[in-house]
Amino acid sequence: MTDLDTAWVRAQFPAFAEPSLQGQAFFENAGGSYTCQPVIDRLTRYYTQRKVQPYAPYPASQLAGAEMDEARQRLAAMLGVETDELSFGPSTTQNTYVLAQAFGQLLEPGEAIIVTNQDHEANTGPWRRLADRGIELREWCIDPETGQLNPDDLENLLDDKVRLVCFPHCSNVVGQVNPVVEITALAHAAGAFVCVDGVSYAPHGFVDVGALGPDIYLFSAYKTFGPHQGLMVVRRALGALLPNQGHVFNGDTLYKRFTPAGPDHAQIAACAGMADYVDDAYRHHIGGDASPVARAGAVHDLMRAHETALLQPLLDAVKSRNSVRLIGPDTARNRAPTVALALNRPGEEVAVDLAQHGIMAGGGDFYAGRALGAMGVDPAKGVLRLSFTHYTSAGEIDQLLTALDAVL
Ligand SMILES: Cc1ncc(COP(=O)(O)O)c(C=O)c1O
Repeated sequence: MTDLDTAWVRAQFPAFAEPSLQGQAFFENAGGSYTCQPVIDRLTRYYTQRKVQPYAPYPASQLAGAEMDEARQRLAAMLGVETDELSFGPSTTQNTYVLAQAFGQLLEPGEAIIVTNQDHEANTGPWRRLADRGIELREWCIDPETGQLNPDDLENLLDDKVRLVCFPHCSNVVGQVNPVVEITALAHAAGAFVCVDGVSYAPHGFVDVGALGPDIYLFSAYKTFGPHQGLMVVRRALGALLPNQGHVFNGDTLYKRFTPAGPDHAQIAACAGMADYVDDAYRHHIGGDASPVARAGAVHDLMRAHETALLQPLLDAVKSRNSVRLIGPDTARNRAPTVALALNRPGEEVAVDLAQHGIMAGGGDFYAGRALGAMGVDPAKGVLRLSFTHYTSAGEIDQLLTALDAVL
């Protein structure tokens, strides 16, 4: 397989040429990624040439509306879903909140929702609050040692009262990639819908949501090289069933039903830049004709191969230290490069020390306090989190390992 051309990749991200960031190695990508050039170009063009109300009959407005439509159409095609099954909201947290309101209206008291304690709060808190409306909440719990979700445990929680199963594609502190196809099949066989938080996985490649099978798949564009938007796939059968949460006159338009906030026109338009980036990467590394979902899949595989090769030395370096508890698996395969470490002092303090060595990292609970608590991590200390993505270089991993040696 072709290797990822990191020099080409880094040339697509202005941050790597930015003088004030020279010598700074970025390891808080799970919090938010650098932005790629096509997104910045589209945002600038929108604000300078098209910043008018879209979908009106004059040229600037028509270009604005067309670019918003282009973003939805191209990204939906890459995700293997229909154009109107993808919508944009202000953030994933807001999108799950709106969806929870819709499920709250759809479900009868006594029906059940399964949530995990591995999720970021965004895909668990809004669902748990439905208990106030008489909906039963069942918790699918992680193994306290490994942080893993075991599908056998889910099977024991499923019965004909369960209407929805919510879980992460990958936790933002455990890092392990959950078997979405297997879990979705279990839930569907029991007659339940499935909501997957893809926020921590999507920065490592766009997936074929159609093939994975969930009814809802969510991620955040500001972590996938784009602007601050939440992307939400709601498959048609579920989207049509859930009560409309938007304006009454938007109820017949699937992609408007779960976005009660007025859309951020410029940012939605700029999201097309994420599709440009994937297509440019495909052309640069592979080329030839392929469907959007196949192009995204090929770029995903290139990114993951690069990340996996860089991740193993980091895992090896931390797992052998007595003063460190590595959260999640110690092998790179089937793991995102999101590495949380529980230490004998607060993660945030260690991040401050790492900053002296040009490492940009963070400490805390990363809104995954339920998972860290279940694993016995002291909430006062939290974890140090080191997260990278495909644009990270081997040199930056070396810089991180040297800094960790000095600081731990
Ligand atoms: C795994 C995961 N899910 C959900 C969210 C929430 O996303 P947003 O900031 O778009 O609300 C985050 C944000 O860090 C996350 O890491």
